[in-house]
Amino acid sequence: HKPRVILLAAVPPDLRAAIDASCEVVAAPGAALPPGTDLAELLKGVRGALTTIRAGIDDPLLARCPDLKVVSNVAVGYDNIDVPAATRRGVLVCNTPGVLDAAVADLTMVMLLSLGRGALDADRFVRSGGWNAGAFPLTRDIAGKTLGIVGLGRIGRMVARRARAFDMDVVYYKPNRDAGAEAEGLATYCDRDDLFKRADFVSLHLPFNEATRRGIGAREFALMKPTAYFINTARGSVVDEAALIAALKANTIAGAALDVMEKEPIGADHPLCGLPNVMLLPHIGSATVETRRAMMELAVKNLIAAACGDRAPAMVNPEVLDR
Ligand code: GLV
Ligand code: GLV
Repeated sequence: HKPRVILLAAVPPDLRAAIDASCEVVAAPGAALPPGTDLAELLKGVRGALTTIRAGIDDPLLARCPDLKVVSNVAVGYDNIDVPAATRRGVLVCNTPGVLDAAVADLTMVMLLSLGRGALDADRFVRSGGWNAGAFPLTRDIAGKTLGIVGLGRIGRMVARRARAFDMDVVYYKPNRDAGAEAEGLATYCDRDDLFKRADFVSLHLPFNEATRRGIGAREFALMKPTAYFINTARGSVVDEAALIAALKANTIAGAALDVMEKEPIGADHPLCGLPNVMLLPHIGSATVETRRAMMELAVKNLIAAACGDRAPAMVNPEVLDR
């Protein structure tokens, strides 16, 4: 009989038909579960789950769901899932790498260019009638400025390529040097502290995990130039958000653009919303029609393959299969 699965993400009809063809969908509540829902209860007797980053899959939950064999996240990040616990319990975790790189890199450039050229302030200037009273203050060229990329993975590389097209100097830091990217002329390796000191823009492209938790904080903001901007499209929790707010308030750095926050969503009462020198976006890095479709296609493929005992195309912990 067909493996039982649950869909904690809204799946378009054609992909739902593909799932129905090989799996029994026992529930499809979508991404927004009613508050107080016992996820473990929902997952009882289920072999596979299609999830978004809103579904917390931790060890106590996994302990209550011994039949669960695959969690297919519709995201490249999987910090909502305790992967070591999943691996220990023989649960395969899948994600959607690759298909969202260009969209996230594009949004990074939107943020970089908007910060550098004062686009949001300029818009407010016109709307508030400032233009009638005089000219908008001069900003600075993008060309010739230095972009510091922290984490040069797939997304970081795409950002580097775009920044090079804008004639920026690109430096990067990651624990293991990327000889390929250096040979391609995409980015120059830089000591971590030097990156923060030298960059006119710092952009984060690293995953969240216990090793990166709040890794960027007061120390790093103090290293940055007072004219430099900070950009985060990765995960809010790789930054010490209180330290960032303090740096923005004290003008230790010129400004920031954030597509991710420590705890999402945030409302108008959040301290970040009261700051004039930060651009805030509602976690939309991958939020285009084409990219979300590609992510859903890959996540559904992962779910069906893994639930049916086949090899999934994008596995986070393939070592589960070797046991
Ligand atoms: C979105 O944040 C993702 O990880 O895909
Ligand atoms: C994130 O997955 C990256 O490749 O930078």
